[in-house]
Amino acid sequence: MTQPPRNRETIEHIQPLVAFTGAGISAESGVPTFRGEGGLWEQRRAQDLATPSAFARDPQLVWRFYRWRRNVIGGCLPNAAHRLLAEMEQRLEDFTLITQNVDGLHESAGSQNILHLHGSLWRLRCTRCAARWEGRDSLREDTLPRCPECSSLARPDVVWFGEPLELQLLADAQRAAARCRTMLVIGTSALVQPAAQLPMLAKSNSAQVIELNVDRTPLTAHADYSIQGPATITLKKWWDALQNQA
Ligand code: OAD
Repeated sequence: MTQPPRNRETIEHIQPLVAFTGAGISAESGVPTFRGEGGLWEQRRAQDLATPSAFARDPQLVWRFYRWRRNVIGGCLPNAAHRLLAEMEQRLEDFTLITQNVDGLHESAGSQNILHLHGSLWRLRCTRCAARWEGRDSLREDTLPRCPECSSLARPDVVWFGEPLELQLLADAQRAAARCRTMLVIGTSALVQPAAQLPMLAKSNSAQVIELNVDRTPLTAHADYSIQGPATITLKKWWDALQNQA
């Protein structure tokens, strides 16, 4: 179902608003997505690079993959869709941003309150103790990063396949989804659980679910409407239409 936006809503009518983002919002910044043409998992196996067992088996290989991603993403800038979500946070009284992205581009665009369901590429954590730290500097090619507190092996502070999401974060995201009046679902294939449940949770609590994506996804048939196209264009179009109603 691809329909033009219903333009009857005003800014008051859409709140509480939740924006739920995936890799597609960063695609126009040059960040590779995971699935689809040119996606990271098209030529690589997630099991070999993004699971606890892959890291236990070959931490060098996993770190090489994450160093490469940090290098690619370190050269990317936030785009108009990231910036518009940051503006919405300022303009709206009841707005929550939930992201599956680990690229840090929402923060670079100026968003402040972000529920990072899958962690951050720019943080590291210890495999043994509870230490977690920001690590934006480039990591040396030939050595594995170590914990500054106990010297054990460090890992990227991201959620890997087979790992649970942080309970409090997930609970906060579920609460926001369950109470919102509108959910914008931007650039996600809506395949990875439990994140992918959030739009359905919003829907089952009578929210209007609006999908912005270049393609159809498993969510498309359930969304109230689905706006096809690149996020930088469709998000602005939706937002501008709202302003015109105000
Ligand atoms: P995917 O790569 O699975 O999906 C990206 C989605 O963005 C697809 O549906 C594309 O059609 C869409 N897309 C691409 N370019 C777009 C654009 N310019 N504008 C709008 N949409 C666009 O990424 P995610 O759904 O984020 O998890 O993937 C979910 C999780 O799977 C990730 O967080 C990661 C991954 O494996 C972990 O690492 C745990």
